Amino acid sequence: MLYDVGMVPIPFFEWRVIVIATIRDVAKLAGVSVSTISRYLNKSGYVNVETERSIKAAIEKLDYAPNQVARGLAGKKTNTIALILPDISNLFFSDLARAVEDVAATYGYTVILGNSDDQADKEKRYIETLKKKYIDGFIFASQTFSTEEAEMLTKLGIPFVCLDRGPSKENASVVRSKNKEGAKLAVQHLLDIGCRKIAHIYGPQQLITAKDRLIGFEESVHHSPWFTPTLLEAGDFRIHGGISATERLLERHPDIDGIFAGNDLMAIGALKALSRKGIKVGSDIAVCGFDGIQTTEIMTPELTTIAQPIYEMGAMISRLLIKKIEGALEEDLTYELDVKLLARESTLAFTPKVNQ
Ligand code: RIB
Repeated sequence: MLYDVGMVPIPFFEWRVIVIATIRDVAKLAGVSVSTISRYLNKSGYVNVETERSIKAAIEKLDYAPNQVARGLAGKKTNTIALILPDISNLFFSDLARAVEDVAATYGYTVILGNSDDQADKEKRYIETLKKKYIDGFIFASQTFSTEEAEMLTKLGIPFVCLDRGPSKENASVVRSKNKEGAKLAVQHLLDIGCRKIAHIYGPQQLITAKDRLIGFEESVHHSPWFTPTLLEAGDFRIHGGISATERLLERHPDIDGIFAGNDLMAIGALKALSRKGIKVGSDIAVCGFDGIQTTEIMTPELTTIAQPIYEMGAMISRLLIKKIEGALEEDLTYELDVKLLARESTLAFTPKVNQ
């Protein structure tokens, strides 16, 4: 009895499991990265003779047929990159987007922006739509980018990189700030000005940026005699979340003299909550945020913050992606950039309580 599987009839007793080789199998057998295979297949950059020989041998041995979408077959390049970020209304992300676009334009690329609102299905819709429009590459600044999506883009030969809270993925460069160190810088500053009971409003813990700041805070204070876990309060990286978190903290600990908020929007919320209670920010209590968005400069009192190198982050990730698209990126790495303390009135005006 013969079963006809496509062009090649396979006698029933000779059925084999036909395994379709993937680009990752070829990379593994050839002993190179997936992005090198992608460069070789798309002829989008340098591959030395030795490596080319190993790749060819691996493709032949595995009988690999690259899943060429119309884009590859057509050799189509659109000089367009996509930036998927959580929420452009947060000045942190709009400043990032500005830097990404400025640098992309110097290399002749345009940027398409998508707000994922940190929703996986919304991000998936963007990827599905944009990959059909021959996007040359993606920058993910939201954390819902999944391993399956990463594998699909790799298989299609579409490069991607991750920014800020974007998850670390195999064969993707990552650029973010030194979040843990930044939290420690905030705590040290509050201690230096005389705070002796500091609370932390932390961001959503599914985000690596919020998680690292909480870790940095706890590592700095866990040995202090005044510390108790009830000085930690959940926020949502938004202003109203900062207001309600501050209200809950003051209920539990009316005697806190310092607040470190995991981002500037929650710190601005804290200023609002404290003002409503007639607590004078600066002299009675010190408040420090994280991000360094421009709004912190025009608050009253001006808000102390741990400034991320926002423009530098956006510029760097844009360059990395374009190098990758053009086959000039040798290796995917994770880059953690320094942050700095911008000390302003919301901490510098603090006067420690007597009998400390
Ligand atoms: O304000 C938005 C926050 O989310 C920032 O701290 C940034 O690091 C991002 O993760």
